[in-house]
Formats: sequence, C-alpha cells, structure tokens
Amino acid sequence: MNDKAKWDPQAVQGIIASLQHKPGALLPILHGIQNALGYIPPDSVPMIADAIQQTRAEVHGVITFYHHFRLTPPGRIKLEVCRAEACQARGSRDLEFHVKEKLGIDYHQTTLDREFSLEPVYCLGNCACGPTIRVDDDIIGRITPEKFDLLVDELTTTALEIR
Ligand code: FES
Repeated sequence: MNDKAKWDPQAVQGIIASLQHKPGALLPILHGIQNALGYIPPDSVPMIADAIQQTRAEVHGVITFYHHFRLTPPGRIKLEVCRAEACQARGSRDLEFHVKEKLGIDYHQTTLDREFSLEPVYCLGNCACGPTIRVDDDIIGRITPEKFDLLVDELTTTALEIR
C-alpha cells in the first residue's frame, strides 16, 4: 500500500540539496522527490529549477515527458498492468479493457475515491504466467477479469474494529 509523506518543502529542499551537485542532477532529484512523496509536487518545480539553474518550463517538460513521474499524489494502491508482448499473447488486452472499465479510469489516472492509480508497465519478468499485474510491490500472474474483481473487493474491504 502507498504510505508516502505529504508535501513538505523542507524535505524537498533537503533532497534537492543532496543531489543538485551530481552531473545530470535533474533526473536523480525527480526520482528522489517522487520516491519520498509518491509524486512531484508542482510547488517543488521552481525550487528544482532554481537549484540547477534551469527554467521552470524545462523542469516541467522533463516531468511530463516521462510517464513515470506524476504531478499529483497517487492513490492509496498503485496498480500496474503489463502491456508487453508475452502478456498480450496471453490476453492482457482484454484484461486491461476490463481493468479500466472496472475502475472507471484510464492509464495515468486515479480513481475519484483515491483508492487506485492505474499505470501501464512493460514486462514484470513474469512472462510465462501472464497476464500479469503488479499491486504496489506484489506481482500477480494468470490474472483474469474475475480474479481482478475479487482482488479489488479484497483490497477495498475495510476491516471492522471490534471493541
Ligand atoms: S510480458 Fe508481461 S511479465 Fe513479461
């Protein structure tokens, strides 16, 4: 499950300061911020630009060029569907259609309840057991639409606290 920190300018400044002297510092800084917070807060763009003496537009351009980076906080659960060839041969096209319909979102989007963020991925190293998805850090193979529905129910079921 996603358990990232909230937007914290001081934490971001610390990440920038620790990486800004590296050659080609922009990508390490962006990875560092996203690893810490789960996204690149738009307010951090001017801080990054000042530190590495690039324009805000240049920094923003790099963030939006790479689908890996996001400018909005991710949902509670990150869900990735493999779109690479072996999984396609095993029916991932139908699965991804179903996943999008079930969640009501497209790739690079987050459900309104902020439970799921959906991303495409290109091979999870589980090709023989496709179609494959990754739920946060867990790789799950041989996923069918029915299994996916069960998984979503399981992931969104809230345990009742009994006193
Ligand atoms: S092609 Fe999907 S896991 Fe390799």
